[in-house]
Amino acid sequence: MAHDVQPQQPLWWQQGVIYQVYPRSFKDTNADGIGDLTGIIAKLDYLTWLGVDAIWLSPIYPSPMIDFGYDITDYTDIDPLFGDLATFDTLVAQAHQRGLKIIMDYVPNHTSDQHPWFIQSRSSRANPRRDWYVWADPKPGGSPPNNWLASWGGSAWEWDITTGQYYLHSYHKAMPDLNWRNPAVKEAMFDVVRFWLDRGVDGLRIDSAQRIMKDPQLRDNPPNPDLRGTTYKSFTDYDTQLHLNDKGHPDIHEVYRELRQLLDAYSILSPRVALGEMHIYDWKVWARYYGLQLDEIHMPLNFGLVSIPWKARTVQQLVDAVEAALLPGAWPNYVLSNHDEPRIATRVGPEQARVAMLLLLTLRGTPTLYYGDEIGMHDVEIPPEYIQDPSEKSQPGKGLGRDPERTPMQWDGTPNAGFCPPTVKPWLPIADDYKQTNVAIEREDRHSMLTLARALLQLRRTTPALSVGSYTPIEGVPDDCFVYMRQFGKQRHLIALNFSSNEQQVHLPKPGGRVLLSTHLDREESIELNTLRLRGDEGCIIEVGDTRT
Ligand code: NOJ
Ligand code: CA
Repeated sequence: MAHDVQPQQPLWWQQGVIYQVYPRSFKDTNADGIGDLTGIIAKLDYLTWLGVDAIWLSPIYPSPMIDFGYDITDYTDIDPLFGDLATFDTLVAQAHQRGLKIIMDYVPNHTSDQHPWFIQSRSSRANPRRDWYVWADPKPGGSPPNNWLASWGGSAWEWDITTGQYYLHSYHKAMPDLNWRNPAVKEAMFDVVRFWLDRGVDGLRIDSAQRIMKDPQLRDNPPNPDLRGTTYKSFTDYDTQLHLNDKGHPDIHEVYRELRQLLDAYSILSPRVALGEMHIYDWKVWARYYGLQLDEIHMPLNFGLVSIPWKARTVQQLVDAVEAALLPGAWPNYVLSNHDEPRIATRVGPEQARVAMLLLLTLRGTPTLYYGDEIGMHDVEIPPEYIQDPSEKSQPGKGLGRDPERTPMQWDGTPNAGFCPPTVKPWLPIADDYKQTNVAIEREDRHSMLTLARALLQLRRTTPALSVGSYTPIEGVPDDCFVYMRQFGKQRHLIALNFSSNEQQVHLPKPGGRVLLSTHLDREESIELNTLRLRGDEGCIIEVGDTRT
């Protein structure tokens, strides 16, 4: 079964690779231990050298930083910690000069409780902004209006003593949910989008995209009959419910159709893109967010690879299920790590992280590459006095903290890894392997993770089969292998991945080919495909066809 819905004229976000920068942790230039916009500007040449196409910036708006920027007090400014609007404009201009696109994090579901809108909303029931947030009366007896839970524990409702009602917060109580059923909220939030698109931003990553529309009747969530939990995260109170009523109400699709129209109007000037953060693993439900006419979110983010055991068959099943769920023309995407998930090198180990990088950069669809994964950064154990993340603080000791995957980028082997001056305390600790695992060392090492990531990015850029070609899984291979073909016109590239540490033999009824790249970076040779040997933890890209003549 080939999935060969190739875009006629691929757009930048279909062809390219998106690199996620967590601004606090990328590069500090004013010696406060926190990354900033000037730091990102200073590293643009690194990103072009690496070979990515777009930068997604986690939030840089003014914020009390309870959730490190996902709690916003002003959607149309920059927090002084990071810089100002003039520096942001410089960043966009400098990125564009280098052919890099900029994607902003857009956080529509909630503001900070310090946002002027919420301060007004909670000031009295008669305030014109009262209905900008989700307020509800208590149940008789005073308990919260329904059983909805906050992601980080406890009820999603907080009692407001002044006005005698509860307000809804899907996350922290300092992050009240906006009421998207109020047309004025929608208009104000669409104005925010216009503000950034007018400044030249190329796309949005929509935070908590599924949450903005809840059941208008605020009905209870039913219990979750499946209490097994997911592969890499502990089971929490939040997982005891099926989240049927506190997010994803069908009305949401109309909002995203309208947002898409707004983006499409701007795309006449230059193509813009929306990525939607949603943790949906029922691929039919997930695919619905593309829109029935592909008229909603360009790419609902696909967290499949983050949620499953790292096994060849499971990964293939996931990819096949995602491909099968897509409407013709819907463009896939894959996430391997981000600022909310354990890093890939920690999840699967350093050897398999190389196989994972090859997978990410050769699957059909747009990859998002998390900063630091290209040098093999791993999660860092955070001493108690350093803990920052509200998710860890709300549910201590459950392994839910996200600080370990947010530690500073390792640029070189000097103290503080070149992230901030040696005398400054960085906001999170530096990994203790920074002397070996860093950009400066790995640039010079022909076999490093960075050399592999860059070689993959270059090969992908120059090979349409790898960026926009069709995907066909190859059946009948050993259980520990995942093998697939990418094809564009006559160009055929076979991807063969060994998920085990033992040698595997793959027998393919194909003519010869040429290994263009191995994760071991020591092999470029013509081979017979009837017996393809893969060493332990090896992945290869093989150009198919008789390349010897
Ligand atoms: C998803 C973001 O990725 C995460 O970091 C944040 O805490 C929540 N949304 C709330 O905004
Ligand atoms: Ca700084």
